[in-house]
Amino acid sequence: MKDPLVSPAQLLRTAVEACREAGSHAHRNRQRRAEAFNRTAHDVKLYLDRECQHIAREVIRARFPYHDFLGEEEEGTPQSRSISCEIQWVVDPIDGTVNFSHGLPFWCCSIAALHRGRTLAGAVYAPALDLLFTAAKQEGARCNRTPIRVSRVNRPAEALVLTGADLRVPCRLPPFAFFEAFAAAAQRVRILGSAALDLCRVASGEADAYFESGIYLWDIAAARLIVAEAGGRGAVLRTFQNGGLWFLASNRSLFAPFRRLILQVAGIEST
Ligand code: IPD
Repeated sequence: MKDPLVSPAQLLRTAVEACREAGSHAHRNRQRRAEAFNRTAHDVKLYLDRECQHIAREVIRARFPYHDFLGEEEEGTPQSRSISCEIQWVVDPIDGTVNFSHGLPFWCCSIAALHRGRTLAGAVYAPALDLLFTAAKQEGARCNRTPIRVSRVNRPAEALVLTGADLRVPCRLPPFAFFEAFAAAAQRVRILGSAALDLCRVASGEADAYFESGIYLWDIAAARLIVAEAGGRGAVLRTFQNGGLWFLASNRSLFAPFRRLILQVAGIEST
């Protein structure tokens, strides 16, 4: 690490500050939610996405000018962007942009600090819900400062599973193939529209598992640590050249059966 004196707790303080500033900016300006600079099939890019990323970047740069920065609103895939420093900040300024643009409250700002690809600190702030989820490596996970834990549900048939159906990320199998399998195996499946918040719901025990077959690093970088620090497990099951990922997270009991289910749907033998 370039700066060995930076602890996960220090990184988390900056992640929280950046998240709060960026998220509050979007929330204060929510009457501008339809101001888009680009609309494509199944997606919208808002001026507020860019503004919030800029705000987060400035907060981080003021504390750690020599750290790398990866934001959703930059050009290129995560793989195509070079990393020059061992610490990299990964930012999704508005995760759940489509929800936000329609006025739904399920969106958040997600900020993570990674060391050689592993998350050391993560903050997820949902201003419209007044929720701040945080975790620093080996220091536990919290929601609004209160410690959180994953659920104890240990039978797939009793599990509430969160997923997404993002048709923009081409990842071999269509998301509804997985949806169908989860719908048959679990108690219910839900699509709420913000991957980072979905993962935080797994961390707080309100949902039991999350899976998505077309997601990017910035959607999961902060919340995967929040799940792990809350006692859960998360893993990238596949990566694609375009940066797309298959990501599964759950409490510890459900991880193996749900991983098997996904691999079965994909026709991959489980090891
Ligand atoms: C999206 C949300 C959504 C998920 C998509 C993501 P964005 O993030 O997390 O829940 O299904 O795959 O891309 O584009 O709003 O930051």
